[in-house]
Amino acid sequence: MNKIGIFYGTTTGKTQEIVESIALKLQNCELFDVSKAQKEDLAKFDNLILASSTYGDGELQSDWEDFATSLSEDDFIGKIVAIIGLGDQDLYSDTFCNSIGLLANLAKKATIIGQSKNENYEFTSTNALNGDEFMGLALDEDNQSDLSAKRIDSWIESIKDKFK
Ligand SMILES: Cc1cc2nc3c(=O)[nH]c(=O)nc-3n(C[C@H](O)[C@H](O)[C@H](O)COP(=O)(O)O)c2cc1C
Repeated sequence: MNKIGIFYGTTTGKTQEIVESIALKLQNCELFDVSKAQKEDLAKFDNLILASSTYGDGELQSDWEDFATSLSEDDFIGKIVAIIGLGDQDLYSDTFCNSIGLLANLAKKATIIGQSKNENYEFTSTNALNGDEFMGLALDEDNQSDLSAKRIDSWIESIKDKFK
């Protein structure tokens, strides 16, 4: 399997902590904080994990927003992409983990892997679902950090053989 590039944006460090733990478990990963990354960094990988928390009114984390403007849909052609979103289903129940839907839209020309079940969450609305499933891994470190390890482990199991 080729190396996996993990591109993350974080404001208070929660997404960073999560992707660091995922990189340790998956191995063969290179981490990029998108506030310091270039489009050329992303181009080097066939295997990608895109990770962003949600801010504002259901928007991407601000560094991810900036990075996304440098990318085009065609940059994802031929790539395998898995998505991670962090959010707060209690305080931001109308836009829970919208970052997942935004990243899935950005990477829509890729093969997206790592869909996960909408189980044990309580929110009003999100753009992260396709049918019954999240289009990535939805984590809520603000209210359900106790569930994260299990969610992460089963997600890793579901994606690890799907990269190129
Ligand atoms: C001002 C503000 C706006 C937020 N907006 C949303 C939101 O729309 N949807 C959501 O699910 N979470 C929202 N959150 C919660 C964050 O996404 C969550 O705390 C996340 O774990 C932060 O991760 P980070 O430290 O990696 O940036 C918001 C948090 C703040 C402070």
